[in-house]
Amino acid sequence: MKDLYGRNIDYMRVSITDRCNLRCKYCTPYGIKNVNHSDILTYEEILRICKCVSELGIKKIKITGGEPLVRLDSENLIRRIKSLPLIEKVTITTNAVLLQEKLHDFQAIDLDGINISLDTLNAEKYKEITGRDNFKKVWDSIEAALDTDIRIKLNCVSIGGFNDDEFIDFFKLCEKKNIDIRFIEMMPIGYGKQFKSIKGVEIFKLLQNEYSDLYEVKEKRGNGPARYFKSPSMKGCIGFIDAVNHKFCDTCNRIRLTSEGYLKSCLYFNYGIDLRSMIRSGADDESIKEAIKGAIINKPKEHKFYRLEDENKVEVKSMAQIGG
Ligand code: 5AD
Ligand code: SF4
Repeated sequence: MKDLYGRNIDYMRVSITDRCNLRCKYCTPYGIKNVNHSDILTYEEILRICKCVSELGIKKIKITGGEPLVRLDSENLIRRIKSLPLIEKVTITTNAVLLQEKLHDFQAIDLDGINISLDTLNAEKYKEITGRDNFKKVWDSIEAALDTDIRIKLNCVSIGGFNDDEFIDFFKLCEKKNIDIRFIEMMPIGYGKQFKSIKGVEIFKLLQNEYSDLYEVKEKRGNGPARYFKSPSMKGCIGFIDAVNHKFCDTCNRIRLTSEGYLKSCLYFNYGIDLRSMIRSGADDESIKEAIKGAIINKPKEHKFYRLEDENKVEVKSMAQIGG
């Protein structure tokens, strides 16, 4: 949706839990302090907020976590969001550990896309970075997902000294499988600060070296700020989300709902509107919509990674808690 209250917002990311079944070193290596169940939005509350935003003109929802599929019955919530009359697209972001068993449901509801997080193609390294020995499960999920007609993307966070020797293997995977692989720069959020990000341009140079027939894919391939490239020998595309070094804020088109019901208009700032309190104190749909409109109008123009003057306003939670 162009120009919603002067801003280019066209989708909402909804974190349905901040729990996760992995312990990625750059995200939640020691787990997170679990929030009480009663502080997490119920499915009814999430649905109500999705309905309100859809009535304001936001027609796409991305379900995230933590790991969304660890929440009991998440497939049912996803089905109900997908059947809201004004919602056009629902996609999910998952680490794919529990994906295979839910694929059948997702196909049945015509889910519009699945983004799978995977930073390495090596089972040992997978265990090292995620703290869990689940590579086979994830790989089986990916293969099974590729057999459906749901659009599948892989998200790979580029990490210096960890997966920088595997980028070419990821390119080759794109030749074998019809999958888009996107490289994401490590953002200096939480434990992410302790890792070295490899710049998107560095990986791009490598890609150019490998494929002399590389071209940019101009048509839109999703909600996000990624730029895509491919060679005729590839079935999928290689995408770049240069979160830090090539700031994407000017094309940021999303708002975020945290699992505790805060509506955040920028992932970088810790400020959010407390929709949970509004709902639980009996607010009607009109006032909820007014509050959401306010958040959209006041959306910051850009993130300020690396600028310290705003330190007290900066988000200190991990990606698992804010939903990526
Ligand atoms: N920088 C970039 N991406 C991150 N993710 C988690 N933490 C960070 C970070 N600091 C990614 C996960 C997953 C997505 C939800 O967010 O790897 O792909
Ligand atoms: Fe890893 Fe994502 Fe879970 Fe964080 S939320 S621990 S990045 S799988």
